[in-house]
Amino acid sequence: MAQKKEAKHGDKRAVKHTVATPPDKRATATPRTPADDKEILARRVTNAKPDAAQPIKAEQENESNSRGLARGALFVGASAAASYLLMRRKRSQKLITTIRDLVSDSLAIDMGSASTIIAVRGRGVVVDEPSVVAVKKLSGEPLAFGREAQEMLGREARDVQIISPLIDGVVADFERTQAMLEHFVREARSGFSQFSRRAVMSVLAGVTHVEQRALLAAAEQAHIGRVHMVEEGLAAAIGAGVMMDDIRANVVIDIGGGTTNIAVVAGGAIVYADGERLGSTDIDLAIIDRLRRHRGLIIGVSTAERLKLELCSAIEPTTGDESRVTVKGRDVQTGSPGAIEVTAHEIYTVAQPILRRIADKVRDALGEVPPEVSADIYDRGIILTGGGALLDGIEIYLQQTTQLGVRIADEPRFAIVRGLAQLYDEPLLLRRVARNEFSPAMNETAGAFEG
Ligand SMILES: Nc1ncnc2c1ncn2[C@@H]1O[C@H](COP(=O)(O)OP(=O)(O)OP(=O)(O)O)[C@@H](O)[C@H]1O
Ligand SMILES: [Mg+2]
Repeated sequence: MAQKKEAKHGDKRAVKHTVATPPDKRATATPRTPADDKEILARRVTNAKPDAAQPIKAEQENESNSRGLARGALFVGASAAASYLLMRRKRSQKLITTIRDLVSDSLAIDMGSASTIIAVRGRGVVVDEPSVVAVKKLSGEPLAFGREAQEMLGREARDVQIISPLIDGVVADFERTQAMLEHFVREARSGFSQFSRRAVMSVLAGVTHVEQRALLAAAEQAHIGRVHMVEEGLAAAIGAGVMMDDIRANVVIDIGGGTTNIAVVAGGAIVYADGERLGSTDIDLAIIDRLRRHRGLIIGVSTAERLKLELCSAIEPTTGDESRVTVKGRDVQTGSPGAIEVTAHEIYTVAQPILRRIADKVRDALGEVPPEVSADIYDRGIILTGGGALLDGIEIYLQQTTQLGVRIADEPRFAIVRGLAQLYDEPLLLRRVARNEFSPAMNETAGAFEG
């Protein structure tokens, strides 16, 4: 039994073995060498017949080369397409800018205490109006602006008041400043433009933070668009022809209606700036005072300004000069209308104390600049801008008092606004000099106008 069992087991094992490896195959099978393994591997990798291995290898190289070339071509094509798209985008952006320039304006605004001047890029000065507003006394509602309001001055209806919203170059009446600016900006816009895109506005060097904020807020609320504030002295220098890449110093003195500003500019930046709340309008006020006190005649502001324009000179009139003008007003004693004759010499003596104060301020300022700057100013002299520069003989007067050469800028009243407008051609410079946030440099000079 035990033998039978053994035999059974032995058969089973034998059958099993036979099924797994047929005896004929087992007999013919030769052992695999490492070379065979390599071939199999190569065939698997190339998926090709053993005899075609060599050309396929070359094909493979070619394929990878062409793939590289294709990839390169694809890359070149993609970058060409990208640069083409970029070029098209640039072109369309340029077109948009051109169209935008057609329908909107780039404004330059010099809002002074005596006059508001606005220039539009490409169109020059488009607004030159007195900074005055006629308002209804009861409601405060504005009735007229600029020249129209100025014409009423002295003869206005009893329920109308003529207001100068800016006094000594700073905002004195916020609401009227904003309304006046909005009115002038509307006037400045071209027929095409329905909105203005941006504006550059001058601001005095010596104003306080609050004063600058008030001006900026007035501009923003006048729906101008983006507003950049630029220091007046720098704008005046650019407008007077000072090159911004000139590293040597130039001094520009702007004599306005209510202020005199002295700015030293070098390398496109302000080196020194100072101001005095004293200007050409102070001559008008001095004339009114003089005629009331010494000649017994009360005259209005407009008459005083006319007298200044017709007779005033910064240098003494020659003895043969018999220029005289008849002025009319109200007699101090009788209260009746009256008239007197005023000579050029009398007006000259009235203007002298004011001009002397301006000259003193200039001398003080020049005494504070660094010696290198003094050397430049000695060589180059002074440039005059602002309406006060139009006063007869002012350049000779300042030449004599400062012992420096003096030149009046072309159209001195427009120097600031022209300088501001020129900044649109130099966007990098504009970005550098824009003073929308209060700068510490301004803080140092802030308060120069106080008191
Ligand atoms: N030909 C002239 N002769 C004398 N003064 C003149 C002449 N023309 C204008 N002015 C005076 O210039 C002043 C106005 O100058 P400007 O327009 O520069 O002042 P503003 O910029 O409004 O004032 P500010 O800069 O002080 O705020 C007025 O007082 C005006 O009488
Ligand atoms: Mg001015």
